[in-house]
Amino acid sequence: MKALILAGGKGTRLRPITFTRAKQLVPVANKPILFYAIEAIRDAGITDIGVIVGDTAEEVREALGDGSHWGASITYIPQEAPLGLAHAVKIAEDFMAGEPFVMYLGDNLIADGITRFVDEFREGGCEAQILLAHVPNASQFGVAELADDGSIKRLIEKPANPPSDLALVGVYLFSNSVFEAVNAIEPSARGELEITDAIQWLVDQNRVVRPHVISGWWKDTGKLEDMLEANRIMLDLISSEVLGEKDENSEIHGRVRIGEGTRLVNSILRGPAIIGENCEIVNAYIGPYSSVGDGCKILGSELEHSIMLGGSRIEDCGSRFTDSLFGVNAVVRKADRVPAAYHVMLGDNSEVEIV
Ligand code: TTP
Repeated sequence: MKALILAGGKGTRLRPITFTRAKQLVPVANKPILFYAIEAIRDAGITDIGVIVGDTAEEVREALGDGSHWGASITYIPQEAPLGLAHAVKIAEDFMAGEPFVMYLGDNLIADGITRFVDEFREGGCEAQILLAHVPNASQFGVAELADDGSIKRLIEKPANPPSDLALVGVYLFSNSVFEAVNAIEPSARGELEITDAIQWLVDQNRVVRPHVISGWWKDTGKLEDMLEANRIMLDLISSEVLGEKDENSEIHGRVRIGEGTRLVNSILRGPAIIGENCEIVNAYIGPYSSVGDGCKILGSELEHSIMLGGSRIEDCGSRFTDSLFGVNAVVRKADRVPAAYHVMLGDNSEVEIV
């Protein structure tokens, strides 16, 4: 069995971060989301992985390499444009070479992994298996309507009036017959080849498509709130490890990870939280559910329930940042000059809330 990870796309919902980087490489608990997908696939016993890449191909290649870090072999499959999930399947046909495969959306996180579902599919009895989860906001997802006997009646992409609260999770198991489906369907009104249409085609052809409603935590990390929630869930699972140094005026409470070369001076760190390597935390408070990347500085400021990417800095701000995401090398600092006005240079689609 092989795997297909989708790491192309546009990432419009996470701009401006995605103007400069792949959304699948934004870290959650200081680890790129995409790495969790590779680990889940590897843990399910699959090592031959195709990765669909788009505009951010170079960055994704640099991060994953040839896959040997995970004991896997990675083949990159360039997609000329984000023409839909079913289009990504279509261009992976040669790579699959007749084998069944698990398709994993590179921006999805499934806390319990996928081993169980892969094993279930390997036992046979169906041509495709989809995972479903109960969600409160079904109209933002592909939605499944099930018949009384539990079989799939209908799949609809982002319906205005969802017939159920069962969203399609971004992990699918396919046999070779999915290629018949993706070659038979036409692009949707939004111009994409939809995976829901491909699966619906299989259902309409009376092929056995097995739904599996999952009970564990799952997240499609398309938006900032989802990123922060994923960060929270993953930080809840960390164990403590303090490699950096703290002075006698600093306090550490709860589960925290602190990387080598990081210094805590006159600061309070309350876990669960993770601080990368070579950070400076001085006269600061870092509260629960914070992930701080390598080389960050938090000086005379407070942070909670936020993600800071590598090299970002908060200096002498006094007040607390919460529910925030700082891009690589982003800087917020108090200036000592007149006029006492806000002075910003914000990327397109940036958002700043001031109280
Ligand atoms: P989406 O989140 O549906 O799309 P997107 O990444 O373009 O994001 P947005 O809606 O914010 O613009 O995609 C799910 C995953 O699949 C994501 O990891 C990107 C990837 N993808 C591809 O690789 N190729 C594609 O053609 C599409 C549509 C998505």
